[in-house]
Amino acid sequence: MKLIIAANWKMHKTGSEAKEFCLELLQKEDDFRGVEVLICPPFTALTAAAGVLKDSSVKLGAQNFYPGEQGAFTGEISAAMLKEAGVEYVIIGHSERRHLMGEEDSLVARKIAAAYENGLKPILCIGEKESERDEGVTEKVLEKQLSKALEKLEPEQVKSLVIAYEPVWAIGTGKAASAEDAASAAGFIFSHLDRHFGHESAAGVRIQYGGSVKAENIGSFISLEHIHGALVGGASLEAGSFGDLIRAAGKAVAS
Ligand code: 13P
Repeated sequence: MKLIIAANWKMHKTGSEAKEFCLELLQKEDDFRGVEVLICPPFTALTAAAGVLKDSSVKLGAQNFYPGEQGAFTGEISAAMLKEAGVEYVIIGHSERRHLMGEEDSLVARKIAAAYENGLKPILCIGEKESERDEGVTEKVLEKQLSKALEKLEPEQVKSLVIAYEPVWAIGTGKAASAEDAASAAGFIFSHLDRHFGHESAAGVRIQYGGSVKAENIGSFISLEHIHGALVGGASLEAGSFGDLIRAAGKAVAS
């Protein structure tokens, strides 16, 4: 299964900064063989990034979208707008949207269904907060987020899904999950998918780990049975260190 390493830039980089980053990253493209690489800039930098990436193997993702075709949705962006800008993937239900912007499971489910309807590939983010981990309810939280988000989907759709397991306490803290914790969460996600959508669909899903991933620790996640990539925040903001991280992931899978 091909690894998928995605850069989530969050609210960082203007169009010109994105262009500069992409030009630098592409100088190392030969090192990315065997890894699907994806950049998710803010909306305003998508077109600039797309212009540089268009003839390359590096793909473009968006960080969010609204599940309506068009209309009175001030401040929102549709799937058609993203596709015209060259977007292939879209991050849905990131913890910052859930916990800072109040995005509920029901909206996440609508976005996942709308992404499939409109030909965008969703990256569904799930993960527990620190207090939930301390209470020992991690699996209960993941179960709820997964079952709500996927309730409108058919097994055939689930098969091509990317799911990012991002424990909230590991995001931007420098305190990545242990390989044991990541393995246990990814195993739980796999068995949930297996139970609800069948083995073939579960086996097609790529599960990413996200939360303080860097070149130095990516190998410990990538080598786990059910983890096939990473969603990277801070360490994706410089082309040099992001390139090192991709190379390290490729090496870990080859060894
Ligand atoms: P960091 O890699 O900065 O911890 O962010 C992770 C993340 O939220 C990616 O979506």
